Amino acid sequence: MQTNEKIIILDFGAQYTQLIARKVRENGVYAEIYPFNISYEKMKELNPKGIILSGGPSSVYEKDAPIPSYDVVDFGVPVLGICYGLQLIAYTKGGVVDGAARREFGRAELLIDSHEDLFMDLPSSTTVWMSHGDALKEPPAGYKIIGHSDNSPVCAVRSPDKKIFGVQFHPEVHHTQLGNKILNNFVRSICGCREVWNAESFIESSIKNISEKIGDDGVLLALSGGVDSTVAAVLLHKAIGENLHCVHIDSGVMRTDESKIVVELFNQSFKIPIELVDGSELFLERLKDVEDPEKKRKIIGKTFIDLFEESAKKMNDIKWLGQGTLYPDVIESLSVKGPSATIKSHHNVGGLPEKMNLKIIEPFRDLFKDEVREVGHQLGVPEWFVERHPFPGPGLAIRILGAVSKDRLEVLRKADDIYLEEIHNAKLYDEIWQAFAVLLPVSSVGVMGDSRTYENVCALRAVTSTDGMTADWYEFPPEVLAKISNRIINEVRGINRVVYDITSKPPGTIEWE
Ligand code: XMP
Repeated sequence: MQTNEKIIILDFGAQYTQLIARKVRENGVYAEIYPFNISYEKMKELNPKGIILSGGPSSVYEKDAPIPSYDVVDFGVPVLGICYGLQLIAYTKGGVVDGAARREFGRAELLIDSHEDLFMDLPSSTTVWMSHGDALKEPPAGYKIIGHSDNSPVCAVRSPDKKIFGVQFHPEVHHTQLGNKILNNFVRSICGCREVWNAESFIESSIKNISEKIGDDGVLLALSGGVDSTVAAVLLHKAIGENLHCVHIDSGVMRTDESKIVVELFNQSFKIPIELVDGSELFLERLKDVEDPEKKRKIIGKTFIDLFEESAKKMNDIKWLGQGTLYPDVIESLSVKGPSATIKSHHNVGGLPEKMNLKIIEPFRDLFKDEVREVGHQLGVPEWFVERHPFPGPGLAIRILGAVSKDRLEVLRKADDIYLEEIHNAKLYDEIWQAFAVLLPVSSVGVMGDSRTYENVCALRAVTSTDGMTADWYEFPPEVLAKISNRIINEVRGINRVVYDITSKPPGTIEWE
């Protein structure tokens, strides 16, 4: 994103770093995250209007503590240090950090000692979220204490020139009551950023950048039917028109009518041409008798690429591959902790760009999911589509435990349709991050009418989450679950028992495979 009004967040390994960026952006200011060890030259090139130092699990006194190679506090723009960031400011400027301080985790009452700048327009006390081991004992010489709590006598500080600030608590966390106001005071009043970051300005500058970058080249986009690739297609189409070629592959392991919905949406609502490739027979043939979840994923990923490559070969002048990659994936690969260990091999069309010598265009590599949804709204993508739950690329194949067959797909589709229909009827869809049915490779005994049954068990899963990285199981009103269970057992032949999954992530994952 090209803007002269950006805040740079240096990541010291905190679990909340992405939240800082989201909160700053909510204040209409563009923010980017970088690992703490980017060079001085890189920081100069980024030319921020302010810097935020994140928290982190380390102690500044540790041997390999994360410390930038230059004095970031003296970089020349306002700095806000959060938790570890505050301790780093104190450490570099001669304060005293107490490594033996009492750990503090949870809510605390912040008493404000100065209502200027950072705490402008705040009441005399407010609830904040603490999560720290070390704490600041003495601020650096000349620094003023601007806030304290019962446990932390030095809870917030300010440099003599009123440019450098540090807070022990986490303003980015939802539980800090006025956290957004504090960040707003920093980025708007102290750093002087004007309001420029919103979906409209993003769309405007993206269309310009994309059309300059792509020129008259052709771009190929694989449409999964998910929000990210759909909104990417609409944006790319606005920028390059008919040079965008969209392909949707029906893998045969989609929900009921999924491919039909995608094709209709593109043809009728967006008037964007889309090629539908029916791969259902090929996918099912390759998946026959395969039980191992990772093998299923690999087969599906490879089959997608094979079919995609086949249709791409028929097109001329394709130089780019469009992808709906989001910012969290980009940050993950840049993270100071390194790319996180692969728990499941998520498939995409990776491997194809090198094979076909394509360049990659990712219009959303700077955006969070909720921002893509907002861009979708602005571009006129229908509300029901933009707010749809995520759906995994390998589809129902990873929700049928054990081997996938046409019959089992039919059973699962029917149960899943009823489940989602009842969630919509109860007006709970928007409260839930993801809800789906899973068909287990287990049969159990039941009784229907006067007969004994011996049929499949269906598990229902529903979770709340903000990014899919962690999730809590959703607490349905019991009468909704009762109705769903009743309908599935009465209406779906092949299922005689319904169970509800009450596992959060971690330790569970959202999908069962
Ligand atoms: P897990 O099961 O890893 O899922 O907790 C987190 C989120 O990712 C989705 N998911 C996938 N998406 N390809 C995808 O495109 C995959 O192989 C895949 N596996 C999981 C899942 O639905 C949830 O939203």
